[in-house]
Amino acid sequence: MTEAKSSSGGSSPGSPILSVRGLWKNYPVQRTDASIFARLMKVAVGWTGALDEWSPLNTGLPILKGVDLDVYPDETLAIVGPSGAGKSTLLHLMGALDAPSKGAVMYRGSDLTKGGSVADEYRNRRVGLVFQFYHLFPDLDALENVLVPAMVASSVHGWYGEARARYSARALELLQRVGLEKRLHHRPAQLSGGEQQRVAIARALILDPEILLCDEPTGNLDRKTGEEVLALLWELKAKSGQTYVIVTHDRKLAEKANRCVEMEDGKLVQITTNASPGKPEVSSKPPEPSISVDLPSAPSAAHKGGEVAIYLGAAFFVLGLVGTIFMTFAAGGVHVILLGPFALAFVLILMGVAMKVQNT
Ligand SMILES: Nc1ncnc2c1ncn2[C@@H]1O[C@H](COP(=O)(O)OP(=O)(O)OP(=O)(O)O)[C@@H](O)[C@H]1O
Ligand SMILES: [Mg+2]
Repeated sequence: MTEAKSSSGGSSPGSPILSVRGLWKNYPVQRTDASIFARLMKVAVGWTGALDEWSPLNTGLPILKGVDLDVYPDETLAIVGPSGAGKSTLLHLMGALDAPSKGAVMYRGSDLTKGGSVADEYRNRRVGLVFQFYHLFPDLDALENVLVPAMVASSVHGWYGEARARYSARALELLQRVGLEKRLHHRPAQLSGGEQQRVAIARALILDPEILLCDEPTGNLDRKTGEEVLALLWELKAKSGQTYVIVTHDRKLAEKANRCVEMEDGKLVQITTNASPGKPEVSSKPPEPSISVDLPSAPSAAHKGGEVAIYLGAAFFVLGLVGTIFMTFAAGGVHVILLGPFALAFVLILMGVAMKVQNT
């Protein structure tokens, strides 16, 4: 569980639009010392290779370590923190673009990590994403790029029926709003960085999402262009009242948000409610989330390795027993060779228990 220290007391909490509960994200790693059991096997019998990548042993490198966070309708929430803290990872999980190792991402009470139609609907219609590096399709022009989410969300029949005309009108309107009406048929390579980011913003808004997740929307832009893009985001929010979650290194931008969440090493360390947030205003100050979910922490690889050693030990013990019974009845007496499986069982179980105890 992450204890995030709030700098201001919360009032009565409303219903969050998006909640993150006990979120862990481990990225798999290869040849890591996480796989202690594999290393022991290598030392003992020179066995190397596949065991290292065997997923029960390779729990990976933890990037998010039990994050709890609530996002409230209409608010602007900034996420700040040092490089590598896990901000983008958290944002991608909030956008249902990736699956957590453990925990839940709830949109209006439905768990998106379970997948299915709720997650599809959320991804397609409820959330828009603006990435730091724009991620536009290089072979499509600005207008086509903005239309991509609408195409994906429509059936072929619907698209060529009426959706295409309807969304084209909306894409034109959005591109006008972001000041690119004269760049409709420019491809990304023919657009400046700021213009590409504006296309990406228009694309994120084409389906009128309730939530806009922005990952360093100005990170790659010069100061003036960055300020223009931000002004545009505030202006769009004032008109449509979306909920914004913005990952940023820009302290000024963070101060403009209603709340600012600080991340460090995969955990939320502080949530600040800004006394006088900049534009856009929200009607009421959102309450602080209650961060109170107690989920067990992710078991370490050594802990799992211990478990495997115990299972193996038990298997050798059973083998020894079967051998004893077989030799007693079929061979007329037990043989000293049976000491082998029993001894191995003893060593493995002892090793397993030690690994588990050490890592509890
Ligand atoms: N696909 C991946 N596989 C393995 N490790 C990854 C992957 N994506 C991110 N990481 C690791 O996770 C950590 C957190 O990455 P993340 O992109 O979330 O950081 P960040 O806080 O957004 O940093 P920045 O401010 O530099 O963008 C980094 O150490 C990174 O190496
Ligand atoms: Mg990042």
